[in-house]
Amino acid sequence: MILEKWLQGARPEISTSSVLWKLSGTMFFMYLLIVGVSAFTIQPEERTVASGNCQFRGKHFKTIFGVEGEPAVLRCPQVRYWLGASASFHVNMTWRKNDSAGMAPGGEETQVWVKDGALWIVPALQGNSGTYICTVRNASYCDEMSIELRVFKKTEASLTFISYPQILILSTSGSLVCPELSEFTRNKTDMKIHWYKDSVLLDQANEKFLSVQGTTRLLINNVSVEDEGYYSCVVAFAHNGTPYNVTRNIKLRIDKKEEETVPVIISPHQTILASLGSRLTIPCKVFLGAGTCSTTLLWWMANNTNIKSAYQEGRVTEGQRL
Ligand SMILES: *[C@@H]1O[C@H](CO)[C@@H](O)[C@H](O)[C@H]1NC(C)=O
Ligand SMILES: *[C@@H]1O[C@H](CO)[C@@H](O)[C@H](O)[C@H]1NC(C)=O
Ligand SMILES: *[C@@H]1O[C@H](CO)[C@@H](O)[C@H](O)[C@H]1NC(C)=O
Ligand SMILES: *[C@@H]1O[C@H](CO)[C@@H](O)[C@H](O)[C@H]1NC(C)=O
Ligand SMILES: *[C@@H]1O[C@H](CO)[C@@H](O)[C@H](O)[C@H]1NC(C)=O
Ligand SMILES: *[C@@H]1O[C@H](CO)[C@@H](O)[C@H](O)[C@H]1NC(C)=O
Repeated sequence: MILEKWLQGARPEISTSSVLWKLSGTMFFMYLLIVGVSAFTIQPEERTVASGNCQFRGKHFKTIFGVEGEPAVLRCPQVRYWLGASASFHVNMTWRKNDSAGMAPGGEETQVWVKDGALWIVPALQGNSGTYICTVRNASYCDEMSIELRVFKKTEASLTFISYPQILILSTSGSLVCPELSEFTRNKTDMKIHWYKDSVLLDQANEKFLSVQGTTRLLINNVSVEDEGYYSCVVAFAHNGTPYNVTRNIKLRIDKKEEETVPVIISPHQTILASLGSRLTIPCKVFLGAGTCSTTLLWWMANNTNIKSAYQEGRVTEGQRL
């Protein structure tokens, strides 16, 4: 799992020349702490931009994998931030593919449409692979972020690329979770997930594996080394009367015992250069290993002071965790 948190600096007030402004005057540090609870506040940003002026926040670290012929859904990566920042949520979300100028259409008759801010591609084809850009805009603010979609043919060879890694501990009981399904299982009481191990359907009468009713979990009893390998979960989804399967692949690794998880900062490590007068966003990326977001705290500091105190006027703010 990877965590990301941005540090954002709005325009410095004084901008006399356009020389490079080195951020060495202020020492920025990122701090991590493993705690039992996560206590995070999302700080609203106060800024106004002229309409048409849209800030690009960068590419989301996650790549979305799709299986050819199945539905794929892209969620706007920056939306959680907007939800936290703006109570009213009067925003306009639009999508476009990087290599085409056109907006994604709104109607569900076509292959590609936008619903509640998410981009749906039904069915996804290999040609739909690429970088997609989501623009979120309200009356006073606009930003964009991109996310990559890669659609693979359903073959054994593609498994290593498209599998989600999951870990269970030897001789314990634990669950696999069928990931990234929320759009397909929402408001469904009769959700039924079929689980496969190495392409063989896992029988419900099996005492070893139990697909927990009404959830996206597969319970594995008394985990053994032989349980390692590729699993897939399949949920049926109908659109306009056409049935589709949604497949997710999991690569299960078995560990001897629960390891201490020590988060590692991936970036940044180097001095950041910025041009004077520009807006600057610095992402901090942290690898959590088998750790989870809920037990990790991540924050930025400037000169050993927290950002809110160091910049009381709010010129530099912390973004949300992604
Ligand atoms: C950080 O320290 C440097 C050097 O003492 C100072 O120039 C700078 O203004 C300080 N920045 C903040 C945000 O306190
Ligand atoms: C637009 O969104 C920004 C950022 O979320 C928020 O601070 C601002 O209040 C919103 N403006 C309107 C008019 O809704
Ligand atoms: C959203 O923005 C697009 C492009 O600017 C515009 O065509 C569309 O009408 C807007 N939708 C709403 C609901 O404001
Ligand atoms: C869009 O594509 C162009 C050229 O292929 C590339 O230079 C640019 O970085 C891409 N933009 C994003 C947001 O990925
Ligand atoms: C768990 O499996 C191992 C062999 O894989 C076996 O020796 C052990 O008795 C099992 N434990 C339980 C509680 O079933
Ligand atoms: C979905 O998968 C099941 C087997 O897992 C298969 O019987 C069914 O035909 C598939 N449906 C579609 C629409 O591909």
